[in-house]
Amino acid sequence: MAYERKDAFHQRAKREGFRSRAAYKLAEIQRRYQLLRAGQRVVDLGCWPGGWLQVASEAVGPRGRVVGVDRAAIEPPLDMENTFALVGDLTEPTVQKTVLETLRGRADVVLSDAAPKLTGVRDTDRAREEVLLEAIEEALGRLLRPGGSLLVKILEGPEAQALARRIGKRFRRVSSVRPAASRKGTSERYLLARDFLGEASAPGISGEGARGDAADAANAADATDAAKAASREPAGGSTQSDEGGGAS
Ligand SMILES: C[S@@+](CC[C@H](N)C(=O)[O-])C[C@H]1O[C@@H](n2cnc3c(N)ncnc32)[C@H](O)[C@@H]1O
Repeated sequence: MAYERKDAFHQRAKREGFRSRAAYKLAEIQRRYQLLRAGQRVVDLGCWPGGWLQVASEAVGPRGRVVGVDRAAIEPPLDMENTFALVGDLTEPTVQKTVLETLRGRADVVLSDAAPKLTGVRDTDRAREEVLLEAIEEALGRLLRPGGSLLVKILEGPEAQALARRIGKRFRRVSSVRPAASRKGTSERYLLARDFLGEASAPGISGEGARGDAADAANAADATDAAKAASREPAGGSTQSDEGGGAS
């Protein structure tokens, strides 16, 4: 049964010209939250094989610019004038610098569907996921403009959850999103964080404590609203899912 479903999702992405089933998750989040707007600059961390790049490219249009990075090269290359796919390790500061140069400025939106290649050894997999999230957390101030938005995949594990909470505190509005497209049984969810407070809000840097409990309470309320909204969202429709380290 699982194989039949997986196969059907692949077939659909192929039929509709998407490089991955994951494209349907971003498309769903875009429909629900209007995350991306025309003319924006977007970074996509962990972009192979390019489904999210396709959705983002369409959403920002010809005046926008999308730069993705992945360890794997996208083949055949995407043919979209506003979109660039770089090859590199997103945790490397030199790679992040090249992303920024290619983007020609800080991003309005940072996307990350990055996931490590899974080994099946739980501790190893969790540790790898944390390395990715920590790198994204560390790079945020350089990559994202104040006021910008972040959509990042959060996988299982208490450390990943703690990291997500820490990242969320650097934004004014935070939601936890589980696309209807995400497969039943997966722990995958996405942190959707809006209105970045900027570099000065980084942990340990002055200004972090300035938001106080009211903002934290607002974040918690947003997350609850998102969960409620997700449970109202009709399942199925035009959305699909993928899981784990590989793009599907
Ligand atoms: C689920 S896939 C992304 C799918 C993509 N959103 C799409 O729509 O096609 C996760 C990607 O994260 C990438 N990744 C994991 N660790 C990485 C790293 N350190 N640097 C760059 N890419 C990484 C993997 O190579 C993999 O292609």
